[in-house]
Amino acid sequence: MIILGIDTSCDDTSIGILRVKKKNFEILANIVSSQVKIHEKYGGVWPYLAKREHKKNLPIVLKKALRKAKNPKIDLISVTKGPGLEPCLWEGINFAKSLAKEKNLPLVGINHIEAHILINFLKNLKIKFPAVCLVVSGGHTILFLMGKFLKYKILGQTRDDAAGECFDKVARILGFSYPGGPKIEKLAKKKTGKSKLKIKFPRPMIHQKNYDFSFAGLKTAVLYDFKKRKKEIRGSKIYKILVAREVQQSIIDVLIEKTFRATKFYKAKTILLGGGVVANEKLRREFKKRAKKSKVKILIPEKRFCTDNGLMIALTGFFHKEKATKNYGKIEAEANLKI
Ligand code: KG4
Ligand code: ZN
Repeated sequence: MIILGIDTSCDDTSIGILRVKKKNFEILANIVSSQVKIHEKYGGVWPYLAKREHKKNLPIVLKKALRKAKNPKIDLISVTKGPGLEPCLWEGINFAKSLAKEKNLPLVGINHIEAHILINFLKNLKIKFPAVCLVVSGGHTILFLMGKFLKYKILGQTRDDAAGECFDKVARILGFSYPGGPKIEKLAKKKTGKSKLKIKFPRPMIHQKNYDFSFAGLKTAVLYDFKKRKKEIRGSKIYKILVAREVQQSIIDVLIEKTFRATKFYKAKTILLGGGVVANEKLRREFKKRAKKSKVKILIPEKRFCTDNGLMIALTGFFHKEKATKNYGKIEAEANLKI
């Protein structure tokens, strides 16, 4: 069976093609066309600008993906129906519908958050349950339990900004363009030598006995600190490095604390991570170290499958293939779709 997966939920136009042979997954193509160059000028993603770019890019990305996969016969089309930016979701859905119609194929609508976690099954189908799942992206920070395969219960989520959004906003304060996560990561790795400058930010909600998150306060703390510093300090390389390091550490500390508390409470056998922020190397290292100490198995997708991609949509489409339909009208964008 060959599945073509389409994602246009935010600013990347992505198409992946997956072959499934007796529960063996083979990646035939995974093309991502980034809109970063367009959005970085504005410091964030503008939905209608992104929609226009998706419209332009979708046929190009499809052509590239099909060529890479050597023009296979597709059996199923899978498309993100939510959550995401509504105009962008519709662009992908309408494109998927016309492609499905043209080829007389069934179509399945996919939850983007679920796909960020299910991509972990690409290389490992023998995952033990219950599993604690953490999705950390630009739009979401959400912790949920997978009691059984495809059965979910939300444990907690962000009350305001997502962790990725916090990375993006802090980067902007420091004068870096969108997306901020990779820039903060790079900055945090730089050497400062000995410096008298001390920077400390809060770990929001870390001790609260729930599984919710809040990162807006962290961004505000950075903004206050930035504003109270003298120009020559806040403009210095050392200041930016120390802020980047402390913000990154604060986010990692909170995510680890809540995830492992949930793991212990629910006696989870596995931890599954996903989402763009999980591409962060320090976060990956610290989660692995803590999992080893806690004797729990952890699965983290390859970096290229952490950020938005069409392959995770194709794989999730395979797991939900019985929901596929030729009654295309049934599939609609759901900007606030829940897990
Ligand atoms: O999952 P994703 O590609 O899109 C959404 O579904 O939102 O996540 C994008 C987010 C952005 O906020 C970006 O700054 C963040 O992931 N990100 C990172 C890194 N790479 C991407 N954050 C921290 N470290 C990274 N290396
Ligand atoms: Zn995403």
